[in-house]
Amino acid sequence: MANTRVISPEELAAQRPFTKRIREYYEYLCPSGTPLACVRTYGCQQNVSDSERIKGMLAEMGFGFTESPDEADLILFNTCAVREHAEDRVFGNVGALKNLKRRKPHLMIVLCGCMVQQEHIAQRFYKSYPFVNLIFGTHVLYRFPELLCGVIEEQKRRVAIPNEDGNIAEGIPVHRDGSFKAWLPIMNGCNNFCTYCIVPYVRGRERSRDPEAVLQEARELVAAGYKEITLLGQNVNSYGKGEAHGVDFPELLRRINAIEGDFLIRFMTSHPKDATKELFDTIASCEKVSRHFHLPFQSGSNRILKEMNRCYTRESYLELIRYARSVMPDISFTSDVIVGFPGETREDFEQTLSLIEEVGFVSLFTFIYSPREGTPAAVMPDPISAEEKVKWFQEMTALQESLSAKRTASMVGKTVKALIETATDTFLEARLSDNIIVRVQGDPSLLGRHAMVNITEAKSWILIGEIESVL
Ligand code: SAH
Ligand code: SF4
Ligand code: F3S
Repeated sequence: MANTRVISPEELAAQRPFTKRIREYYEYLCPSGTPLACVRTYGCQQNVSDSERIKGMLAEMGFGFTESPDEADLILFNTCAVREHAEDRVFGNVGALKNLKRRKPHLMIVLCGCMVQQEHIAQRFYKSYPFVNLIFGTHVLYRFPELLCGVIEEQKRRVAIPNEDGNIAEGIPVHRDGSFKAWLPIMNGCNNFCTYCIVPYVRGRERSRDPEAVLQEARELVAAGYKEITLLGQNVNSYGKGEAHGVDFPELLRRINAIEGDFLIRFMTSHPKDATKELFDTIASCEKVSRHFHLPFQSGSNRILKEMNRCYTRESYLELIRYARSVMPDISFTSDVIVGFPGETREDFEQTLSLIEEVGFVSLFTFIYSPREGTPAAVMPDPISAEEKVKWFQEMTALQESLSAKRTASMVGKTVKALIETATDTFLEARLSDNIIVRVQGDPSLLGRHAMVNITEAKSWILIGEIESVL
């Protein structure tokens, strides 16, 4: 049995009186209208999904939402720690709130998420940014009403980053940002400890939601008209590991696929060490599961993969791709890759380039290695200069751009299924299953519908097409 602690309905219900007291406080503070919250999310879809729960709690406290910090009565930043750049942005953006707070003393400033789960960062915010009212970590999200109420009633700043690792909280209200695309978290945390990565330290150990809770939420989303459901977790392939219910990821996919309705199932992220042939066979047999797979490889060099503690080889990764294509010739792949891991040589880097060419990804998320305090890689010798790493990075992105351009050009003349996602004054944009955007002409009333689109032209990052039929 995994070390999971499910927050009981009673524990969640204990938050309700705090929600009520906050609502009353803001009714008193803003007698002429609805108080407004500005919620900014940094980082990955896990954070986006957490923010939807935070917004759900804020809505119950009586808040409406605004994109503008100037209009807000409460500003919340849900932060990310994955790279230094992500953290620098938060430091800069929080610093910029100082003047706003001076003009508007009742403004409540809240920081949460992965970055502030790190003790040294939380302390830095607490000491150097005295206008921040509340800082809370990833493990106590469900206690947000209690924490905020404490700050309001005691008129005291507060930091709450206990290491209550292993929580799963069911039943937090969700305020979804989209009306036809939904995020559905199926697990939390990570046990893999890739040597460069901070996530296991700030998100805690891997734990899976109960399959019935996931299925129930999926059924509700389909009934509410959602056309795309993305299952979320740091390593969705290991869903259910160590839990007594015995439902693994392929089985979960089969059960969600069996829900009646017109919708697409996506999932992220997958770890190659846990992606099995059974998983690809399952996707091949489930008509609602997207034929697109995000499978981060990180490096094409076996030596670096070992140093990264990724637990697979270049050969086993390529074998997975080969097998997937043998059962689904139309499957497409995207991936994450890191350049400049400590000790990476030009030879290692060339292995990464050759893997990129060999696989032919639709697109890549490319990162320059960023040392994270407390991770093993942060203390490994790193002789390659920053300038050299930037050069390699540019070489890699140029290669991928040329491969992407070839691939999109080869799509002209084909007819493909797409979800119409955005409407501007002059055109609509639809997303293909491999996340490429195609621009079409059509009526904005088609938003949220699937359509068959004939591709007529390929530009470098976008396709142009014509709607053949609406599904
Ligand atoms: N759980 C997912 C993704 C986690 S973070 C997975 O295992 O694939 C998203 C991506 O950020 C990672 O895939 C990796 O490519 C990148 N990343 C993580 N830590 C990093 C670091 N210290 N420096 C640069 N990139 C990093
Ligand atoms: Fe980080 Fe590795 Fe876990 Fe992904 S699998 S979150 S890269 S430790
Ligand atoms: Fe960032 Fe946390 Fe996601 S560190 S990438 S927001 S899990």
